[in-house]
Amino acid sequence: MYSLVCIECGRENDETRYNCECGGLLEVRFKLDEVEIDFKLDGRDMRVWKYRSLLPVRSDPVTLKEGGTPLYRLDRLEKELGIRKIYVKHEGLNPSGSFKDRGMTVGVTKALEFKKNAVACASTGNTSASMAMYAAKAGLKAYVLLPAGKVALGKVAQALMHGAEVIGIRGNFDDALRIVREVCDRAGIYLLNSVNPFRLEGQKTIAYEIADEIGVPDAVILPIGNAGNISAIFKGFEELREIGLTDEMPKMIGIQAEGASPVFKAFKEGKEDIKPLGNPETIATAIRIGNPVNAKKALRAVYRSRGLVEAVSDQEIISAQKILAKNGIGVEPASAASLAGLIKLSKMGAIEGDATVVCIATGNLLKDPETAMKVCGEPKIVDADVEKIMALLT
Ligand code: F0G
Repeated sequence: MYSLVCIECGRENDETRYNCECGGLLEVRFKLDEVEIDFKLDGRDMRVWKYRSLLPVRSDPVTLKEGGTPLYRLDRLEKELGIRKIYVKHEGLNPSGSFKDRGMTVGVTKALEFKKNAVACASTGNTSASMAMYAAKAGLKAYVLLPAGKVALGKVAQALMHGAEVIGIRGNFDDALRIVREVCDRAGIYLLNSVNPFRLEGQKTIAYEIADEIGVPDAVILPIGNAGNISAIFKGFEELREIGLTDEMPKMIGIQAEGASPVFKAFKEGKEDIKPLGNPETIATAIRIGNPVNAKKALRAVYRSRGLVEAVSDQEIISAQKILAKNGIGVEPASAASLAGLIKLSKMGAIEGDATVVCIATGNLLKDPETAMKVCGEPKIVDADVEKIMALLT
């Protein structure tokens, strides 16, 4: 029903590989005319496994009831920016607090199918938290490599509490990914970074849920880090169209942090691949990545959908994080890059007034309490006295 195909040379690969022999990225391809679709796009009962007929598994899934995340409308901002409909899909409300859970439910299920007893990843935080949680559920050993001192506290706490072996390296995420890939090869551990094509299959259900709830929007805007999610969501929309369940495609709009923006630079130059960046830096540590592994897939998604890539400053990210918070949506900094991008693009005149736009909020506010405290300031402390409190009411 599906095979693992190289996006460069088109060769079919064994299911257990992460890259083609030619070095190209792999992608799961379904024989869509043979798949028996057993769901309807009726906006009901949404969750990752509603779409099981389009997910490449052969066994009972390891699930924590991921997906089915809320889509909120930002009506005040619509008026302010003069855009017809702005939605935010709050992926921070998944079990571990980020969109990674959609990929992990599929990835960890595959680890069991392949009879692996350990899984591993390099991570800027969320992947590790999610992997630790699903590995715990499945009874698998989990190893995590993090850039020491550069991962938000909530994420490290999750990975530790769910029982992963957490190792900080003196280096950045790109170093950690290079090392963990080699370690997985040598030790026979199953790699669960987004170079693993099965993870992206789970993440494509973000597209399915959007189409399920509101149809196909004009644009989907999301942060780019390792560049997996934008590729996954594009694939999801493409599949729905190929099957005939929808007949449009959204523009895929990727947003990077200025200090970590190799995909933005490649897009500006019209290139199909990136030049890795040595020292990425941003307050949005989740997307502090200089050599995104899925860059080619991401750029392909952007070009094919007639989308674009933009970069935003840390200040724009924090300002968008606060706007989301004022609308009742608590996200971590990287997540706010999508709204920061929308605001910037709208001011540049790059978003049409009658557009319906969906911003993906990728991770929960609680992931990064330290940055929140830094940008909001500490709470006031006063004596336990009613008059003192009354004096503070504004
Ligand atoms: N937003 C958040 C909150 C993330 O954690 C990530 C990636 C992204 C956006 C970017 O998604 O990599 O698919 O382009 N975090 C990874 C991690 C790298 O290790 O948790 P992407």
